[in-house]
Order: sequence, then structure tokens, then C-alpha cells
Amino acid sequence: MSESSHSMSQVSVIGLGSMGAGIARALVDSGCRVTVWNRSREKVDALVDYGATGCEVPAEALEANDHVIVCLTDYSVWRRLIEEHGLASRFADTCIIQLTTGTIEEVQEHASMVEGHGGRIADGAVMCFPSQLGTDDASLLVSGAPAVLEDCDRLLRRLDANWTDLGEDIRKPAILSRALIAGMVTSLVGLVNGVAICRAGGVPLDVFVKLNERGNSIIPAEKTRLAEAIRDGLTEETEASIKAWGEGHQALLAVAATLGTNLVLQDAVQEVCQQGHRMGISEHDLSALVDVFDAGSG
Ligand SMILES: NC(=O)c1ccc[n+]([C@@H]2O[C@H](COP(=O)([O-])OP(=O)(O)OC[C@H]3O[C@@H](n4cnc5c(N)ncnc54)[C@H](OP(=O)(O)O)[C@@H]3O)[C@@H](O)[C@H]2O)c1
Repeated sequence: MSESSHSMSQVSVIGLGSMGAGIARALVDSGCRVTVWNRSREKVDALVDYGATGCEVPAEALEANDHVIVCLTDYSVWRRLIEEHGLASRFADTCIIQLTTGTIEEVQEHASMVEGHGGRIADGAVMCFPSQLGTDDASLLVSGAPAVLEDCDRLLRRLDANWTDLGEDIRKPAILSRALIAGMVTSLVGLVNGVAICRAGGVPLDVFVKLNERGNSIIPAEKTRLAEAIRDGLTEETEASIKAWGEGHQALLAVAATLGTNLVLQDAVQEVCQQGHRMGISEHDLSALVDVFDAGSG
């Protein structure tokens, strides 16, 4: 690695919400000298008690170290801080490791701005809970120029020993993290919807919890199978077609309607299946629904 062990052991963290504080703590735990700034002073004080050095203003955090991790609510908060505190003039020769969740446009605009002021940029997405950082369950996706990523490697490994290098295209963490969230959020919202249906139908939730766990045991393997079928162009052959899933879902819609639960989720899934039907792929595997979602198909 090109970075000296001296400079790699020091880093600033701007933003000490749940995730920023988790990042700062994991870095302190790993033996890093960590400088922190946060709008609310009590969170700085808590980190100082934990072993970090506190700053009064964000500019101090930028001055303190060559590597600065930013983790705030969103990019607009960071943009406002840059403007209000004149931070851009301090980006020269600094590596900003941006771990705030952002849109493709925000990520690109931010990278140009940092580089335009002589700074270096690594943009990342955290795909785990704060308490998982620094453990085997950590998951960090990061993009940046090869030299920047090489420079950040030892620091990133303190948070996630197996962080994912997504290469030079700065948009990739925003894209991949949201793509992964798509599967998580719909299945978790679906689960909550299922609980509401049980509640409305008088089924004890303990029974739901037990059987849900059993039913879900097939899901990880099925998720992998679907993604691989799409990757390999094998979306036609199936033992459970879009039509079969759609009919099962139609029955769910009818049950939910009878029980009077909100149908907004079922209506959306039904529409996806119907679009597949209109495209003539009803007899294909569920993975063929990728045709419904592909860019420009809507
Ligand atoms: N929490 C998670 O499990 C998780 C997981 C993956 C990714 N993330 C991402 O991590 C990022 C931070 O999330 P979080 O959970 O840490 O959020 P959070 O707990 O709500 O913390 C938000 C942070 O932004 C600061 N902030 C908000 N408005 C501000 C303003 N106007 N001026 C200055 N600072 C301001 C807050 O400062 P104050 O303390 O002063 O309010 C705090 O440091 C987000 O982009 C999120 O998507 C979070």
C-alpha cells in the first residue's frame, strides 16, 4: 500500500448520527486516531469519552487529517455545511470518503466538486447496521480512482475487512446499494403486510412467526437462482411460472380484500404480473419479469 502507516492511522469523521458514530467507534476500536465533528455537541462529547478528539467546527475536522469520512442524513446537509463553513477551499490534498446515501446525480456532482477543488474522492454505501462495522458482518461498497482506493484500503479494512471495490465508476455504490435494497425493502414490507392480514383474519402471530421462518428458508437459494437465471439468459424454463405465482397472488389479493386490509402492495404486484402476461411471458420463470423492469420497457 502506498499510504504510510502513520497517516493511515488517523482519520476525521463528520456526522455522528447512528451510522457516523458507529463508523467512528469502529475506527477507535481498531486503534485509529479519530477526530470527529457533529452538529449536536453531545454526540461529539460521547465520542470524546470513547477515545476520539472533538472539533468545534467542521473545518477543523478537515484540517486535522488527510482522510475525512462524511456520513450525514443526505447530500443536501453536506452541501449546506460546505457552503456555510466555506469547506470547499479546504479540500485540496484531502481524501473525502463519502458514505452518505445519495442519488446518482448527487454522487457525480459531489465527486466533480471535490476534485475541482483539488481533493480526492471515494464514494461508498454502507450495507450493514452500525454495530456490524468492524465485524465479519460488515458490508461496505466503495468506488473511486484506483490510486484513491489503494490509498484508502487500510482504512476501509478497519470498517469492513472484505470491503467491495466497485472500481472507478463513482455511481456504482449508489446503484448497487439501491438495487440490493429493492429486494430487501419489498420483502420486508411484504412481511409486515402478511402480519396485517393475519391480524385481520384472527391468526395468532406466534404461528405466523414460526411458519414464516420455515417458509423463508427457501428464499435465499431462490434469490440466487433468479439472479443467476437472468445473468445466464435462462429465464424460460421453470417449475413455478409467472402465471402460477400470479394466480397464487390473485388468491392473496382476494383474501386481503375480504379481510379489508390495504391492497396497495397486492395491486402493485398484480400489475407487474399482468404486464408480464401482456408481454407474452406468463409461462416463463419468475426471473423473466426482468423484461418488465428493464430500462425503457415501462
Ligand atoms: N443507520 C443505519 O443503519 C444506516 C445503514 C446504512 C446506511 N446509512 C446511511 O448513513 C447515513 C447517515 O444515517 P444515520 O442513520 O446515521 O442518520 P441519523 O442517525 O439521522 O444521523 C444524521 C446525521 O446528519 C446530521 N445532520 C442532519 N441534519 C443536519 C444539518 N442540517 N446540519 C448538520 N448536520 C446535520 C445529524 O446531526 P445531529 O446529530 O446534530 O442531528 C447526524 O450527524 C444516511 O445516508 C443513511 O442512509 C445508515
